[in-house]
Amino acid sequence: MGFFDGKLELSVTSASGIEAVTKRELVNLGYQPSGAEYGRISFDGNYLDCARANMFLRTANRVFINVARFKATTFDELFEGIKAIPWASIIPKNACVTVNAKSFKSRLFALSSIQSITKKAIVTSMGALFETGGKYAIEVVINEDNVLVALDTSGVALHKRGYRTLVGEAPLRETLASAIILLSVWKWDRPFVDPFCGSGTLPIEAALIGTNTAPGLNRSYAYENFIKAPSVIERVKEEANDLIVRDRTLRISGFDINKDAVSLSMRHAKNAGVSDNIHFQVSDMRTLHSRYSHGVIVTNPPYGERLLKEAELKELYRDFGKAYRSLDEWSAYVITSYDNFEKYFGARSDKTRKLYNSELECKLYRYLGAPPKKRTE
Ligand SMILES: C[S@@+](CC[C@H](N)C(=O)[O-])C[C@H]1O[C@@H](n2cnc3c(N)ncnc32)[C@H](O)[C@@H]1O
Repeated sequence: MGFFDGKLELSVTSASGIEAVTKRELVNLGYQPSGAEYGRISFDGNYLDCARANMFLRTANRVFINVARFKATTFDELFEGIKAIPWASIIPKNACVTVNAKSFKSRLFALSSIQSITKKAIVTSMGALFETGGKYAIEVVINEDNVLVALDTSGVALHKRGYRTLVGEAPLRETLASAIILLSVWKWDRPFVDPFCGSGTLPIEAALIGTNTAPGLNRSYAYENFIKAPSVIERVKEEANDLIVRDRTLRISGFDINKDAVSLSMRHAKNAGVSDNIHFQVSDMRTLHSRYSHGVIVTNPPYGERLLKEAELKELYRDFGKAYRSLDEWSAYVITSYDNFEKYFGARSDKTRKLYNSELECKLYRYLGAPPKKRTE
């Protein structure tokens, strides 16, 4: 039996602040994840499960196969531990191997030495490595002297779904956008509005969630080129296609004052296959209104120096607060790095959560409206 044919330990990484959402996603996919350790959650599965995690997780950065775990307090122990891994059953002789190292509270902490020793140990184990073929990215994480050697199966990070071909002004990562929606009270049968939609990330992620469309259907993965592994991509794509709900009427809107942003959003929605599910329109947030009650705003307004001057920002947030309060029992989730948001929005949120958009520290402010009344028969 080859390395990829039996039981595997898998792990996924996700951004600080959203690990709990990723963990919930894993549970919903039928797995039993461990607690998060430095943004990494492990679970048991097989090679097909690894492909499913890549395809279906909306909030994870990458999916790994945990190849080995051992203790190392010296570079010799690290070398021997890496060399003992059956590399010849995992990678071919012509593999192009890259090594990324991380170290937390450990005696081995010089990352470039950890990288070069790992590479040397792999080459020694294989006899030789010609590096003319496919790419295999290895991650070595040392946490309190415990080494985890993991093989990246995603390749390009999972926030790159493939639909965002051009970058708008200060876009949100797709994985973060999805996490915020999954943290919100929004469900497909409630109205959803992003009044500052930019390149359309939040409405598009909402439409993918609302139609139960896998986020990874339109992209490729590193594992597709693992020549020692079975081919599983077609099976996972088939499962993903079968799960799409095509006959739902969603009420998702995205507005932006900038017409180029709206065109970009429309193009991205088309790429993602959800343009029929979203209404995009050029509109100033100040004219925000809705004939529906109990809708949900999820948005990422301009947040500072780079996009708007302080005085304009205060006025914008003040007007946004007024526009929000004119809606009937709507909830709002606003992610921004602007510290005085609540002051100018004119209301204290009932919950805040610290999140990171790439490296930028942001807060998610939650304002809950009353829940819609249950329909009686
Ligand atoms: C931080 S960006 C949103 C990025 C978006 N979440 C994405 O992923 O691409 C803020 C957006 O607010 C828009 N904006 C600024 N003032 C506005 C206003 N008064 N009404 C509507 N949109 C506005 C800007 O054009 C910009 O696209």
